[in-house]
Amino acid sequence: MSRALHDLLGEIERDRTLLEPGRLRERGAALDRLENHRLGAPAAEAGLHERIGALCAALEAIDDQLHRSIRQDIRRGAGAQALLGHARVAGPDPNAADGATAGDGYDHLDTLVSGVLQIEAPQGRLAGLSQEMVFYQPTPARHIFDLLARTGLGADDVLIDLGSGLGQVALIAGICSGARCIGIEWEASYVQSARRCAQALQLDRVGFVQGDARTADLSAGTVFYLYTPFKGAMLREVLDRLEAEASIRELRICTLGPCTATVAREPWLQAADAWELHRPAVFRSG
Ligand SMILES: C[S@@+](CC[C@H](N)C(=O)[O-])C[C@H]1O[C@@H](n2cnc3c(N)ncnc32)[C@H](O)[C@@H]1O
Repeated sequence: MSRALHDLLGEIERDRTLLEPGRLRERGAALDRLENHRLGAPAAEAGLHERIGALCAALEAIDDQLHRSIRQDIRRGAGAQALLGHARVAGPDPNAADGATAGDGYDHLDTLVSGVLQIEAPQGRLAGLSQEMVFYQPTPARHIFDLLARTGLGADDVLIDLGSGLGQVALIAGICSGARCIGIEWEASYVQSARRCAQALQLDRVGFVQGDARTADLSAGTVFYLYTPFKGAMLREVLDRLEAEASIRELRICTLGPCTATVAREPWLQAADAWELHRPAVFRSG
């Protein structure tokens, strides 16, 4: 065994703080290091892979237990406190360089969210996207929590995620804010997975609609979210529909990715603060 690997295994085995449920970020970092070494560990060395595997399993068991406990809290209506509290410690290190929070990479907070939501893989064939529809990619969890904080989403709001994919924006927003949350998604099998998750967590105020954002009912929304779900004429058509809705009531439009630049040029919207492509942007109508 290399000296570095020997030292790493000893260090992680001795560090009992990694077994504390709240040490999510540190445990995630230890698991990442172990996985990297597992790949490169010499196969010939007796018991080495088993030792790394046992250490990973012990750390993963703490995470599994934590996810179960947060799921129970969500079912009994106490999910906001549980998830927001743990998200604070799993999220990017506030002392890290600025780049840790921008961009579309995933981190330990996504591991927490995926363990808590346990969204099932979509079943069956996908309908397929037309040229201006953008394929599924989930919003990194840190951006969802950032959006919740910056919009102050509350129980009186109705959040509509246009192109909701497997639904994690609406699910997290529903858990953490109490707002009614609706996902509109073209792919029926994504909608089924998202609905099953909402049912399993007993989230009565979170729902998913299969449909096209160009024709779906937008009349309930007070806050709309677009993680660049479509582009070109399709984006134009949906923005025109949102402008019509904004003539009836004040809206907040939140965006992430390339569509932000288009949305920022809409004369009926004002940016709530300086916007960037690689972070969620918030715009207000009126
Ligand atoms: C980049 S993903 C965003 C997923 C989700 N909003 C999130 O942030 O995690 C874009 C999603 O929009 C869906 N989509 C694309 N065009 C659509 C349309 N016209 N109506 C409804 N959904 C659409 C895609 O199927 C895909 O799941």
